[in-house]
Amino acid sequence: MNRFGSRLSFSPARVIATVLIAVPLFGQVGLRAQSAPKQIAIPLPPLGWSSWNSFSNTVDSRVVMDQAKAMISTGLHKAGYQYINIDEGWWLGQRDGHGNIVVDPKAWPALAPGERAGDMSNIVRYIHSLGLKAGIYTDAGKNGCGTFSPDIGPGYPNQGSEGHYEQDFLQFARWGFDYVKVDWCGGNKENLDPAVQYAEIARAIAHAEAITGHRLYFSICEWGRNSPWTWAPNVGGAPADIWRTSGDIVAPVVAGSKNTGRKASFQKMLRNFDQGIHPEAEHTGFYNDPDMMVIGMPGLSDAENRVHMSLWAISGAPLIVGADLTKLSEATRAILTNSAVLAVDQDALGLQAIKVAEQGGGLEVWSKRLVTPGERAVVLLNRTASAAPIAVHWSDLGLGGSEADAKDLWAGKDLGSFSDSY
Ligand code: GLA
Repeated sequence: MNRFGSRLSFSPARVIATVLIAVPLFGQVGLRAQSAPKQIAIPLPPLGWSSWNSFSNTVDSRVVMDQAKAMISTGLHKAGYQYINIDEGWWLGQRDGHGNIVVDPKAWPALAPGERAGDMSNIVRYIHSLGLKAGIYTDAGKNGCGTFSPDIGPGYPNQGSEGHYEQDFLQFARWGFDYVKVDWCGGNKENLDPAVQYAEIARAIAHAEAITGHRLYFSICEWGRNSPWTWAPNVGGAPADIWRTSGDIVAPVVAGSKNTGRKASFQKMLRNFDQGIHPEAEHTGFYNDPDMMVIGMPGLSDAENRVHMSLWAISGAPLIVGADLTKLSEATRAILTNSAVLAVDQDALGLQAIKVAEQGGGLEVWSKRLVTPGERAVVLLNRTASAAPIAVHWSDLGLGGSEADAKDLWAGKDLGSFSDSY
């Protein structure tokens, strides 16, 4: 066992160390001052929860209220998580004679005196009353994903916003939503051009924002098929804030679902991490989105959950929890709220990691530049099935010739000062 064996030899392997490397303690103060970047404040990756992975199209007011409460009671909100996102299944494709979305009043009842059942602003008010933010979901096409691949119950047509972009996004803003995810199942089926459709949607969002004075965070979900990182941050008057870079890590894990018994997959999580790396597109507050996380869902061990969290954090990815927040284990809770790891995700420079070294098949060193000059976050990723030592050389981090301090973020431990590698 090497001297870092205890950290690098869990079994089964594919193990991770998340390390923070800091610049020399001596002789570098002047260099630090000279190299300090002019950093303006940028929006950081969103932190929150989404209904899809654990509730599929069974999402309703009760589910959302329970999850919102749990975001507070688990300490996730205190750690920085704020969005409660309602994904597909919240409406069944019905509109009134004026084309306005009609929702089931039983699923979305009045929650306070004076409220009307069937009005989505009720649940938004509830979410806001807890100090949280609210997200909603639609599709860029006429139909939504539930039309083509229904999960629980029959497939409902017309769950998309095509033909109603201005009306729907204005409605979302008027209801008070702060975030909207726009899926691509309908657009894909109709063979539409996503860059064109999402530009239309961006204009509708800008219009809604101008009328209501209410900001809608814009999440594109086109699964990376048409390289959204090349156009999503530039569309229309309201560029997308985040864009999906891959398919879903997991089909919903919920009783009654056609996927009942299915589990979150570590391999698919790794695939989504790989497909999410487009560092050239991730800057000034715009982020690649490798999908909602599966941390804490059936199928992943605690060690695998830590790997997952390390990879999303070093990607500067949106951290949208897919697990049922009312059932988090203490280990999962600790992983999701580790402040040092969250700080890597939320670093003010807003950059993504790149792979800086590979030692033989599957032993990789990933590094993300942090806002403090000379600091790097580093993930040592062992993709093989057995334990192995991995070294990170300062020269691979652009810190050559330096003595640097290393810290293990998961253990919360200073590892010491090292002259050229760890
Ligand atoms: C697609 C998206 C998922 C989820 C489902 C809902 O698969 O990629 O994130 O929104 O649709 O049906």
